[in-house]
Parts: sequence; C-alpha cells; structure tokens
Amino acid sequence: MRALHFSHMKYSNRFPTTFLSLALVLILFLASPTSACTEQERNSLLQFLGGLSQGGNLTLTWKNGTDCCTWEGITCSPDRTVTDVFLSSRSLQGFISPFLGNLTGLLRLNLSYNLLSGGLPLELVSSNSIIVLDVSFNQLNGNLQELPSSTPARPLKVLNISSNLFSGQIPSTTWEVMKSLVALNVSNNSFTGQVPTTLCVNAPSFTLLELSYNQISGSIPPELGDCSNLKYLSAGHNNLNGTLPDGLLDITSLEHLSFPNNQLQGSLSNISKLKNLVTLNLGGNFFDGNIPDSIGELKRLQEISLDHNQMSGEIPSTLSNCTKIITINLNSNSFSGQLTKVNFSNLPNLKNIELMGNKFSGAIPESIYSCNNLTALRLSFNSFHGQLSEKISNLKFLSFLSLVDISLTNITSAFQILRSCNNLTTLLIGLNFKHEIMPQDDRIDGFENLQVLSMYECSLLGRVPPWLSKLTNLEVLDLHSNKLIGLIPDWMNNLKSLFCLDISNNSLTGEISTALMEMPMLKTDNVAPKIFELPIYAAPALQYRMPSAIPKLLNLAANNFTGVIPAEIGQLKALLSLNLSFNKLSGEIPEAICNITNLQVLDLSSNDITGTIPAALNDLHFLSRFNVSNNDLEGTIPTGGQLSTFTNSSFDGNPMLCGSILNHHCNSAAAGSVSIFYEKLSGSKVIFTISFSVFFGVGVLYDQLVLSWYFGQAK
Ligand SMILES: *[C@@H]1O[C@H](CO)[C@@H](O)[C@H](O)[C@H]1NC(C)=O
Ligand SMILES: *[C@@H]1O[C@H](CO)[C@@H](O)[C@H](O)[C@H]1NC(C)=O
Ligand SMILES: *[C@@H]1O[C@H](CO)[C@@H](O)[C@H](O)[C@H]1NC(C)=O
Ligand SMILES: *[C@@H]1O[C@H](CO)[C@@H](O)[C@H](O)[C@H]1NC(C)=O
Ligand SMILES: *[C@@H]1O[C@H](CO)[C@@H](O)[C@H](O)[C@H]1NC(C)=O
Ligand SMILES: *[C@@H]1O[C@H](CO)[C@@H](O)[C@H](O)[C@H]1NC(C)=O
Ligand SMILES: *[C@@H]1O[C@H](CO)[C@@H](O)[C@H](O)[C@H]1NC(C)=O
Ligand SMILES: *[C@@H]1O[C@H](CO)[C@@H](O)[C@H](O)[C@H]1NC(C)=O
Ligand SMILES: *[C@@H]1O[C@H](CO)[C@@H](O)[C@H](O)[C@H]1NC(C)=O
Ligand SMILES: *[C@@H]1O[C@H](CO)[C@@H](O)[C@H](O)[C@H]1NC(C)=O
Ligand SMILES: *[C@@H]1O[C@H](CO)[C@@H](O)[C@H](O)[C@H]1NC(C)=O
Ligand SMILES: *[C@@H]1O[C@H](CO)[C@@H](O)[C@H](O)[C@H]1NC(C)=O
Repeated sequence: MRALHFSHMKYSNRFPTTFLSLALVLILFLASPTSACTEQERNSLLQFLGGLSQGGNLTLTWKNGTDCCTWEGITCSPDRTVTDVFLSSRSLQGFISPFLGNLTGLLRLNLSYNLLSGGLPLELVSSNSIIVLDVSFNQLNGNLQELPSSTPARPLKVLNISSNLFSGQIPSTTWEVMKSLVALNVSNNSFTGQVPTTLCVNAPSFTLLELSYNQISGSIPPELGDCSNLKYLSAGHNNLNGTLPDGLLDITSLEHLSFPNNQLQGSLSNISKLKNLVTLNLGGNFFDGNIPDSIGELKRLQEISLDHNQMSGEIPSTLSNCTKIITINLNSNSFSGQLTKVNFSNLPNLKNIELMGNKFSGAIPESIYSCNNLTALRLSFNSFHGQLSEKISNLKFLSFLSLVDISLTNITSAFQILRSCNNLTTLLIGLNFKHEIMPQDDRIDGFENLQVLSMYECSLLGRVPPWLSKLTNLEVLDLHSNKLIGLIPDWMNNLKSLFCLDISNNSLTGEISTALMEMPMLKTDNVAPKIFELPIYAAPALQYRMPSAIPKLLNLAANNFTGVIPAEIGQLKALLSLNLSFNKLSGEIPEAICNITNLQVLDLSSNDITGTIPAALNDLHFLSRFNVSNNDLEGTIPTGGQLSTFTNSSFDGNPMLCGSILNHHCNSAAAGSVSIFYEKLSGSKVIFTISFSVFFGVGVLYDQLVLSWYFGQAK
C-alpha cells in the first residue's frame, strides 16, 4: 500500500489512468477471498465488538463482509492471520469478549487506557498464541482465575493488568505454566494475599515484577531469589513485613529495587552484591542500622531513597564513589555526624538532595554547592549551624530550597545571597534567624519566580517588608509567629497570584486592610496547576505536590487588629479558611461572610464582636470548624442548619448569647451569671496550640510549611 501511495505522489500527474487501473487491480486483489482474514477471525472480532457498549469509532471500519485485516487497530501476518489487536486509548466501554481467544495467531493484545469493565477472560491468559497481553488502565474487576499446573506450557511473555480494580489473591500455579514469562505488572489494584512464590520456578527469563499499590501482605518469599535474571522488582505501598531475603540481595542483575511504604525491617549490610543497581527505594519502612561503606561499590546507582526509616550512623564517605547519583533521599531517620565526609563535588549529576529530619551537625558542606544541576535541596530540621554560604548562588537550577530549623543566622545576608538563585520557586526558611530584624531594604530584588515563601516562627522584628511587593508570582506567604509590627501594607493586592496568606501571631495593628479584600486569587477560583520539585510536607502523611492543592487561606489571628470586619470580605468567594481570632475587632459579623460559600474554617473567636449571629451562616454547608467564642454576641444561635453541627465550645464566652446547645437557654434567667465561667481571653497571654488539618481533625505540627489553619485551646 505504501509503495503504491508513493508512486501516486510521483507519477499521478503524468500517468493518471495507469494509476487508476493499478489501484483498481489492487482493490480487487485485496477483496479477493483468498487474501482476506478468515470468517472465523472476523466473527471473533465482531463478537468482541458486540461485547462493547461504547466502541470508540470502531464501527467505521469494523464491518462484516470486509477483510478484518484492514480494520482499525488490527494487524495481520502476510498469510492474513490476525497477529495484533492494538486498541489502546479508544474510549472503549463494555467487557472483553472471550472470543478474542479464538484468534489462533494473535500475538499481541493491547487494550490499555480504555474504560473496559468485567473480568479478564481466562481464554486470553491461557491462550496458545498470545505473548503480550496489556489491559492496564481500565476498570476490570473480579478475581484472576488460576490455571491448573497440568496445563501445557503457555507462550505469554508480558502480562500487564496494572491500574484496574482486580481483587483477591494473585494466582500462583498459573505461573508454573508460563515458561516464557518475562514481565508481570499487577500494580495499582486491590490484590490481597501474598507475593506468589512460583514466578521463577519455570521461567528462567523472568525480568520484571511490579506489585506496587495493592494490599499484599506477608514477607518477601525467598523463592524470588531464584529469579536470577530479575532486573526490576517493585512492590511499594503494600503491607509486606519481614526482611529482604538474602537470596534477593544476590541477584546481581537487579537494577531496580523498590519497596517503599511497607513494614519491612532489617539492615542493608548485604547490598553490595547488587552491582547493577540503579534505583534503591526502601523509604517508609522500619529499616535500621547504617548505610554500609560498600554502597560505594554500586557504581550505577542513580537513586537512593531510604527516607522514613530508623537508620542511623554517619553517611559513609564512599557514597562519593556513586558518581551517577541523581537523587539522595534520607529524610526522617537518625543519621548523624558531619556531612563534610561526603565529597559532593564527585556527584555532578545530583538533582535532589533530601536530608530533612536527621541529626546532622556542623556546617552545610561547601561541596554541595558544586553540584551545578541541583534543583532541590532539603536540609530542614537538622543541627547544622552558621550562615548561608555565598556559593549557593552557583546553583542556577535550584528551584526548591528548604532550610527550616537549622539554626541559620543573618537573614539579611541570606536574602542577599539567595536573590542570585533566579530559579527559586519555593523557599522554606522558618524557625531560623531568631530575633533578627526583617530586612526592610527596598533594594532587595530577584526572587521573580518565587511562589512559596515560608518564614514562620523566626521572631523577626520590623514591618512586613516592602520588597515583598515585587514578588508578583508569590502564591503562598507564611510569616506567622514573628514579631512584625505596623499595618497590613496596602500593596497586598498587587500580589496577583497570592492565595494563601498567614500573618497570624504577630503584632500587627490597624484595621483589616481593604487591600486584602481585593486579592485577585481569593476572589476567583482558578489556580493554574503547577507541580513542586518536591512535595511540601504539612504532616507526616500530608504532603502537597501542587501549589493549587494548598488551601486558599487568610489567617490574621493573634495580632492587634482593630475596627470592624469589612463587609467587602464577602468578595473573597474562593476562601476556604478565614481566621480573625484573638484580635480586637468590634462591630457585627457582616452578613456578607455568608457569601463565601466554600468556607470550611471560620474563626472569629476572642474579639469584641457584638450583635447577633447572622442566620445565613447556616447556609455555609462546608463549614467544618466554626468558632465565635469569647466575644460579646447576643441573641439566639440560629438553628436548623450548619451551625447546629458545632458544640457549645464554638459559642462559649458570649454572656448574652443563648441557644439550645448552650447551657444558657434562651429566656432563662441565668444570663448574668454565665459570664463568670467564661473569662474573656482576648488580651490576656495566650499560648497557641497550632493545629493543621482542616479535613482530618487536629494534626501534629510537623514540617516546613505550617499554615495555621486554626488556633484552638487558649490556655
Ligand atoms: C471518533 O472520531 C472523531 C472524528 O474523527 C473524533 O473526533 C473522536 O475523538 C473519535 N472518538 C474516539 C472515541 O476515538
Ligand atoms: C457476518 O456475515 C456472515 C455472512 O454474511 C454471517 O454469517 C455472520 O453471522 C455475520 N456475523 C456477524 C457477527 O454479524
Ligand atoms: C470461540 O470462543 C468461544 C468462547 O471462548 C467458544 O465458546 C467457541 O466455541 C469458540 N468458537 C470457535 C469456533 O472456536
Ligand atoms: C500498549 O500500548 C500503550 C499505549 O501505546 C503502550 O504505552 C504500552 O507500552 C503498550 N503495551 C505493551 C506491553 O507494549
Ligand atoms: C504494561 O507493563 C509492561 C511491562 O512492564 C510494559 O511494557 C507496558 O508498557 C505497560 N503498559 C502500559 C500502558 O504502561
Ligand atoms: C507479618 O505479618 C503477618 C500478618 O500479615 C504476621 O502473621 C506475621 O507474623 C508478620 N511477620 C513478621 C516477621 O512480622
Ligand atoms: C572509591 O573507589 C576507589 C576504587 O574504585 C577506592 O580506591 C576509593 O577508596 C573509593 N573512594 C572512597 C571515598 O571510598
Ligand atoms: C546537567 O543537566 C544538563 C541538562 O539537564 C545535562 O545536559 C548535563 O549533562 C548535566 N550535567 C551534569 C554534570 O550532570
Ligand atoms: C551579616 O552578613 C553581612 C554580609 O552579608 C555582614 O556585613 C554582617 O556583618 C552580618 N551580620 C552579622 C550579625 O553577622
Ligand atoms: C532556570 O534557569 C534556566 C537558565 O537560567 C532557565 O532556562 C529556566 O527556564 C529556569 N527555570 C525556571 C523554572 O525558572
Ligand atoms: C496588643 O497591644 C497591646 C497594647 O495595646 C499589647 O499589650 C499587646 O501585647 C499587643 N498584642 C499583640 C499580640 O501584639
Ligand atoms: C452576596 O452576593 C449576592 C450575589 O452574589 C449579592 O447580591 C449580595 O449583595 C451579596 N451580599 C452581601 C451582603 O455582600
């Protein structure tokens, strides 16, 4: 066909009639019965089509009476036997007909990325011809049936049933008859039971096993050690326990060993035989011991992820010999000692270094700054000390920098240095620079790309600095728990991208600026999805990978703001969390708050707010935290809506307020005496318990972006 088409291009102008007759001959030739697929094959395919409720556009070419070898997605051998059915990403719905198993010459069946449901016909798995079967990314369900071990050997090499809804146990005896099996991918289903032990019993070429994202339990079977050609083993996000079997660590062909988020334990002392290892990911387990010196023998290593384990000791200097390494993730362990032992300048490919939450001490090694390709550096929560090195400005690709709580000093110098890191999008430097003065210098520039800036709990003195107004790409600004004074600057609404602002627990004064009521991102609901280089942790199990997933939030709590809550607050329709508690706000709750219909957190507690609670608050159906306690509200708590879902602690400390959920019922005579119980807290010294999660109750303060959603329990 292609040759004919080509001759058309070349000659049709000169020899149109020749071409036409040639084409006619060819069409007749194609249509002649001897050169079409057999009726049985055509019928099998039509049976398959009949099983579909939504067939993409297949019916345009899949017509009874035509040669099925010409049908969309079908490839035949020269003798017109169907060898390939390739129907990936066709929006197919319905079930997979077992009749496909009647295509006796079918070698490859690829139905990935459709919406197919029902089971996977055993006829396909046990087919006498199929070598590649890929039904991944569908909605197939049910159990996989076993093939009896008496079944004759089957030719299947690649089976991919990943990302479906399969459940039950992974078959076991089936693999005994798959003597040619090379790759098995069952990831991202709901399989239970244990890792099959029979995978390599008869399949010497077995290379790839992908089991991640299931509910597989028990230990890793020692029989996997028999898979002497295994290159890729991945079983993360299951419930596996026990240790890595010795035999597994003898498979020198292994390139990818990945078991994150299981309950595995033991030490890594025996990994030096895995000379071909490229990826080692054992994060989120219970491994202990140290990183052995022999790590340096793994010359091909590109990723070492041992985060969230119980490992300790120093990082061996031999790590400098893994010169291909791109990612080092040792977050949340008990590693200690000076990092200066490792010569990072030997590791020019490094892109991600994550060492958060360990016990490293001494200075940040200067050699890190020779890793020119570094894009993400996370050193938070260690015992480093000193000032930031000027050399960090060598890191032209650095985009994510997290240095929370590492006893940094000299914030002025830090900003002068960091302004040369033009690519910086995320800067997390809270819990440092204690009691220094917030740099006010108008000449601070750079940071054009900064999207997230977190400088919480630094006890910084001074005002909200004017140079922040130049960070027009800023989306998240967290300055809580400093000692900033003065007014909310009126340029706030120049920050066109800002949607999350936490300036709580400072000493800011004045009225709630109308500039805040004009913040564009809080007025509309679109945040273009972007992705962080590294996830930002908010709690051990709460990470943000995209800025847009961070809640739209305005937290002005625990300052000295006065005046009324402006009615314009109703314009901030996109807000999810509004916290004005522990200020000196007066006046009434503006009715307009009820226009912020997505609001999940509303905290107005510990102010001097008067008047009644607007009944329309009952229509805020997403409200999960609500607090107006310790004000001077009066009248009846509106009933019959969302407000009825809160307990009396949400309303306490308003002597004139009454309602069925308060001890103080309306029309009771006790009105005056109640106030004795509810000492006003506003203005007195308060200790704040900062809790995070709005969706899942009170979370533990954990990491570097701490947005104080909600200030609870004043003590
Ligand atoms: C069917 O064909 C039309 C026109 O070619 C196309 O726009 C549409 O996306 C196709 N549908 C599927 C499910 O492939
Ligand atoms: C296709 O056509 C043949 C003969 O014309 C007929 O026997 C067969 O049932 C048809 N198949 C389907 C699936 O309609
Ligand atoms: C085709 O497959 C179906 C279902 O597996 C089976 O019932 C039928 O007998 C087969 N037909 C032929 C002609 O092989
Ligand atoms: C099936 O098709 C998809 C989409 O083209 C492709 O990514 C996948 O590699 C194919 N499966 C196999 C086993 O080749
Ligand atoms: C399914 O898994 C096989 C083996 O790992 C792989 O070759 C194929 O590309 C995968 N299919 C898709 C759609 O990713
Ligand atoms: C592993 O978990 C299973 C339950 O899934 C339990 O019976 C077994 O004792 C555990 N083994 C180890 C070594 O913890
Ligand atoms: C790196 O490996 C070489 C031999 O390959 C060895 O001589 C040297 O001691 C190793 N360096 C470190 C720091 O372990
Ligand atoms: C740095 O990255 C660039 C492109 O991303 C690549 O071409 C270059 O080889 C890398 N340099 C080193 C030393 O890895
Ligand atoms: C901070 O660093 C600057 C240089 O960047 C230096 O001039 C200044 O003395 C340092 N301040 C302190 C307190 O060390
Ligand atoms: C990072 O810097 C390089 C070169 O300076 C530039 O090409 C690239 O676009 C920057 N990336 C970002 C995310 O700013
Ligand atoms: C608010 O101002 C008063 C004095 O007017 C002061 O005593 C108090 O500490 C201030 N509170 C905060 C949180 O700054
Ligand atoms: C709430 O919004 C409606 C329409 O969106 C508007 O008519 C009304 O004035 C707003 N209410 C307040 C109190 O701002």
